[in-house]
Amino acid sequence: VNISHANSRVSAVLPTGESIEVLLFGATVTSWKDRAGNEKLWVSDAAKLDGSKAVRGGIPLVFPVFGTAPDHAQTSKLPQHGFARNSKWEFLGKSSSESTPSTSQSDASVKLDFGLSSATLDEKTKELWPYTFSAIYTVTLTPDGLRTGIVINNDGDKPFDCQFLCHTYLRINDITKVEITGLENSKYIDKVDGAKTKSQSGAVTITGETDRVYTSEPTIVVTEGGSTVFKIERDNLENVVVWNPWTEKAASMGDFEPKDGFKNMICVEAGSVAGWTTLEAGDAYEGAQTISY
Ligand code: BG6
Repeated sequence: VNISHANSRVSAVLPTGESIEVLLFGATVTSWKDRAGNEKLWVSDAAKLDGSKAVRGGIPLVFPVFGTAPDHAQTSKLPQHGFARNSKWEFLGKSSSESTPSTSQSDASVKLDFGLSSATLDEKTKELWPYTFSAIYTVTLTPDGLRTGIVINNDGDKPFDCQFLCHTYLRINDITKVEITGLENSKYIDKVDGAKTKSQSGAVTITGETDRVYTSEPTIVVTEGGSTVFKIERDNLENVVVWNPWTEKAASMGDFEPKDGFKNMICVEAGSVAGWTTLEAGDAYEGAQTISY
């Protein structure tokens, strides 16, 4: 396994050819390629990768609030989606299982760990959210898929409430041919229709701006033209957000390019965001997603 670590990003390539790149800014996975070199994630051509704004694409992390929560005192001052995606994470190191004479190349995998804690947050963020925490985010690349998992610890002496989500931008060829299955019969909150609660019937298809928070079973499948393109399995992440900005919303986002790029992406976001996870002093929360294809 070949790993390189520059000042601002970490990348890894497996002997079988799969690769990932993770920016320390936000611990954002900005690239995930299969062995043939095909990119699996969508990143805007106008995404800021210099730390001036959360990355428009890849896998930004949402913590400790999803969206904004003006009515929730603990998180009311935080910007949309919290501060994790806008903070510089520390690279804690890697562990890799190499192929050995007794195993094959296809057993090689790599695990990269990133850390964020109240001790390393900037002063302004600490004022907005005065809790003592530490988080370890683990990105694991195997020939079969990509796993992103979080452990959040309350290291302080008072409880805090939080939400967490992997805001994954999946790359697809043609949004009009995409179906998401595994959400049939799930209830969802429709954020483009006054946050009404609705019931899904059949597979999810995208025909306009879509912004929904589902509560569903652990496995979701994304198909395109009837073939499976992604399978997403969740561990302790009970919600799935399905987001596509479509024409007008894409046009309104300065960092969304090309403007018709919404045809090539679908956000399927695994998280725990419909309610709050309360972490008592000394407690930890753990959640993960595994994406395969
Ligand atoms: C989604 C939200 O998760 O993220 C949407 O459900 C939001 O409401 C989208 O528009 C993008 O958010 P941002 O802050 O990255 O523009």
